[in-house]
Amino acid sequence: MNANQARRLVVLGTGGTIAGRANRANDNVGYVAGQVAVSELVAMVPALATCPLDVEQVAQINSKDMVLSVWHALAARVAEHLDRPEVAGIVITHGTDTIEETAFLLQTVLKPSKPVVLTCAMRPATALVPDGPQNLSDAVAVALHPEARGVVVVCAGRIHGAIDVAKVHPYRTDPFDSGDAGELGCVEEAQLRVFRPWPQAVPEGAFDAAALRRLKGAAALPRVELIFSHANADGEVVRALLGQTAAAEPLRGIVVAGTGNGTVHDDLLAALKQAQASGVEVVVASRCAHGRVVPHPGQPLPDSAGLSPVKARLALALQLLEA
Ligand code: SIN
Repeated sequence: MNANQARRLVVLGTGGTIAGRANRANDNVGYVAGQVAVSELVAMVPALATCPLDVEQVAQINSKDMVLSVWHALAARVAEHLDRPEVAGIVITHGTDTIEETAFLLQTVLKPSKPVVLTCAMRPATALVPDGPQNLSDAVAVALHPEARGVVVVCAGRIHGAIDVAKVHPYRTDPFDSGDAGELGCVEEAQLRVFRPWPQAVPEGAFDAAALRRLKGAAALPRVELIFSHANADGEVVRALLGQTAAAEPLRGIVVAGTGNGTVHDDLLAALKQAQASGVEVVVASRCAHGRVVPHPGQPLPDSAGLSPVKARLALALQLLEA
């Protein structure tokens, strides 16, 4: 069977608001995430009734509580299904709060040659007008697109690449933005308009098996903390991290969300230099919502190569895992 004949989809559920339940239909914030089974979410979308699907519940959590064991389970299920020739793509239902981190992890580790489409909702499944069913339906259209590949996030009719997507609003039903890169495309009535290339995929095979083995073999990710530079930052938090002995994992890295073009308060910088001297990797990202640190000669800290602070944290942890 070649890639164009593969029509089967796999839907993996992990929880989130898309699976949320509230006591009242007009309550869009006081709900509990991760309550409705992914099989019920699929049943809410009539168009999916005719699509050959496998549906699996991998987790049932609020994504703010994401942990490595769920990522392990999810990456393993994704990889197993990607290897099936009859599978065209995978859809993952996920909470919006850390969807950008899961998308980044799956793209960085797997670089899948088929589409892996994460989708979500900002209104619970019990809402007067839930947004989940349309998002799920759009995600399926993307996963079935013959040219789609790599990890993307689909929400509110927009397709975002895993590397650029960020949640930028806590309430709107279109809460994501891809910053300067812009969205990858859009879905309109199950039709795609694609504006820029799909995420990078492995040159051969369904995914990067060696990188997946490294992730699966890690009982914990190397410990990388994320801190901010701000007015009156005095470096105390860094010194506390360096002095800390009770943590299960030793401190291996710090990402600092710097002001503007990755600048850091002098007093915090002094503490970060101390951390570097003790063998801790330090990377600076920008705390600005858009743009990236523009590298320049003499910059005091290596920069995150355009990654947002949360993604830079994950990237450094994965890099340390390989070291
Ligand atoms: C979550 O991230 O699981 C809860 C919030 C959401 O999905 O919007």
